[in-house]
Amino acid sequence: MSEELTLETLVALAKRRGFVYPTSEIYGGLASSYDYGPLGVELLRNIRSLWWREMVNKRFDMVGIDSQILLHPQTWVASGHVSSFTDPLVEDKVTNQRYRADHLIEAWIAQNAGVDDVVVEELTVPEMAEFIAKHQITSPDGNEVTPPREFNILFETAIGVIAGEKSKVYLRGETAQGIFSNFKQVLDSTRVKLPFGIAQIGKSFRNEITTGQFVFRTLEFEQAEIEYFFDPRETDWRDLFAQWQAAMWSFVVDKLGVNPDNLRWRQHTDKERSHYSEDTYDLDYNFPFGFKELWGIAYRTDYDLRQHIEHSGKKLEYLNQTSGERFVPHVIEPALGINRVFLMLLADAYWEDTANNRTVLRFKPSLAPYKVAVFPLLKNKPDLVAKAEAIFADLTDHFATTWDERGNIGKRYYYQDEIGTPFCVTVDFDTLADNTVTVRDRDTTEQVRVNVDQLVTYLREQIG
Ligand code: GLY
Repeated sequence: MSEELTLETLVALAKRRGFVYPTSEIYGGLASSYDYGPLGVELLRNIRSLWWREMVNKRFDMVGIDSQILLHPQTWVASGHVSSFTDPLVEDKVTNQRYRADHLIEAWIAQNAGVDDVVVEELTVPEMAEFIAKHQITSPDGNEVTPPREFNILFETAIGVIAGEKSKVYLRGETAQGIFSNFKQVLDSTRVKLPFGIAQIGKSFRNEITTGQFVFRTLEFEQAEIEYFFDPRETDWRDLFAQWQAAMWSFVVDKLGVNPDNLRWRQHTDKERSHYSEDTYDLDYNFPFGFKELWGIAYRTDYDLRQHIEHSGKKLEYLNQTSGERFVPHVIEPALGINRVFLMLLADAYWEDTANNRTVLRFKPSLAPYKVAVFPLLKNKPDLVAKAEAIFADLTDHFATTWDERGNIGKRYYYQDEIGTPFCVTVDFDTLADNTVTVRDRDTTEQVRVNVDQLVTYLREQIG
């Protein structure tokens, strides 16, 4: 990441090059909502597939599921979300714009360093009220705000045409509950044995009070969650917790290629921890707006399964085949935000190459939306275009490949650099004579001639 990188720069690049667009822009947009364009959708898919391969396919102790967004509403009563899934809300008394009290306090502390440096995560709602009153903290528009109150961020909706208590359902607030409610079915239908984990990737929804953090915090977002079940008498939760922390770190640094200097662990304070957790750490990334949570890990104990046992009356227990004993396993939960990974990768890859007067997204080649771009040197020379089309067709069997025949080669390189394509292949008149192409490297701008027959092997070695 460049030192001076601002969020505005990333937002502009993301829009200009088709990574992220504001949702419903033709109608003036929708708060805290974004759509992913042609480049964004490829990057998201690469993130998801890599996570699934590393966390599910490559481990013998993991399986996956895909549960519904709409679950039985009792799920959320049992999980505690109906009563406890809240954010501290204040309202601008003039504009009625809503803000999170903790975010206003954080912003005030950042601007008034050393005056009253409380740990915001430690504050209760009454303490936030006191702090806001004491320092006369206003909204970003300079207006007085209402005292903070707990605001439940579960999204309500209704099944069928008649709205009412009976048909009220919730858009899921976390994918985790679909895992807990399927725990017994997975046990009964597969040959898993403790310790084992169930993974799920999918959309979750939160009625977030949020301002200006781009895709970091949106109403609708994608989670990649794991519930890792174990017998706490056989496995010390701290050991498992540490193993998962190591796996998370390694995924971000080794698989996503992120600079470890931009990462840190942060333990949640007692007051900040979710109602279900005994201990929580965040793996934070240094986003353009500071260190913020990328990936959380929580020790949820047997809280959720016990809650579902109580509310459903079903025995959500594990049978130890050797001892014949039945018991409720405990759980460690690594919970990742896919959209946050997306934003992190944009930020970490962003590079102003001033020597060459260009902007480059230096994605790890295996993660780049396109691995290769194919250019016929001139678009009005049928022989060149036909040869380039044949090469393109061949490469598409192996790599995400894109095509560009517009403008001069320099402009095409410039565009591919900005979308992070690691290799550009140019088909020119020499290609027709000796069957070689120019392969240009995104990061070094160096060019080599490669025989078309060797091209796939060459690129595979480079991309990894
Ligand atoms: N399941 C944890 C979270 O949604 O944050």
